[in-house]
Amino acid sequence: MSAEDYAGLFSCDGKVAVVVGSGGLIGREVCAGLRAAGAEVWEADIDDKAGIAHSVQLDITDETSVKAGLDAVIDGAGRIDVLVNCAYPRTADWGTSVTDVPLASWIQNLSTQLGGTFALCRAAADRMMEHGGSVVLLSSIYGMVGPSWEVYEGTDMTMPSAYAAIKSGVLGMSRFLATHYGRSGIRFNAVSPGGVADAQPDVFVAQYEALTPLGRMAQPQDIVGAVVFLASDASSYITGQNIAVDGGWTAR
Ligand SMILES: NC(=O)c1ccc[n+]([C@@H]2O[C@H](COP(=O)([O-])OP(=O)(O)OC[C@H]3O[C@@H](n4cnc5c(N)ncnc54)[C@H](O)[C@@H]3O)[C@@H](O)[C@H]2O)c1
Repeated sequence: MSAEDYAGLFSCDGKVAVVVGSGGLIGREVCAGLRAAGAEVWEADIDDKAGIAHSVQLDITDETSVKAGLDAVIDGAGRIDVLVNCAYPRTADWGTSVTDVPLASWIQNLSTQLGGTFALCRAAADRMMEHGGSVVLLSSIYGMVGPSWEVYEGTDMTMPSAYAAIKSGVLGMSRFLATHYGRSGIRFNAVSPGGVADAQPDVFVAQYEALTPLGRMAQPQDIVGAVVFLASDASSYITGQNIAVDGGWTAR
């Protein structure tokens, strides 16, 4: 292969990409990054984007809504090559500590976040069967390692008690689906961000940064490169994997 053969290796030109949870902190940046890489990006969110071109309303916790939303993209774009799930449904009491969280709430969060992710993955794969595709799921450092509780000291923040079960579940689901759908050319991978700066209290930021080898929290745009890479053909032989985008947090 010559250098010319590698031109556009990281491009998403000609790909139709659906970003679910497109209105969120990370989803917004993923949309912009995939567009910059050449993809036709469809924004999908539970929040109605009426009036915005290439957008659909979709609730990942409702399979009928998931299928209808993806079918609307097929109607408009003809195909789906890439799906990124940045949707993050959670209960009103999300963030309650391990000791206080009602079991029903814990179960509800597992059910909506993991069940919703599964519904989305299966519906996306059904629509990629003829030509293959790439699905990118958002996990977290806390799907990989236990929380460092000292970062919450002196704040009223804590790590939601169901978070690790959900996020390590996303990693397992990604591997399971990668092996199940591999022969159909459908890849499943995960990206695991570290903490993203989002107006957290100064004391939290300082404590978090002290434990991070690169010495800072993530900015939402830091997450985009790994997602675009996994969407592009540069990662065509990568499936069932996880890329930590965490400033070195999990390297310690
Ligand atoms: N922000 C962080 O620090 C961080 C760190 C590690 C991992 N992550 C992961 O990244 C992902 C995105 O996080 P974020 O911070 O951008 O979240 P966010 O809350 O900013 O955005 C989530 C988006 O999902 C949409 N949404 C909620 N429920 C939905 C549903 N039922 N169906 C469809 N869309 C729905 C919301 O409207 C919103 O636009 C999550 O999986 C999160 O766990 C975030």
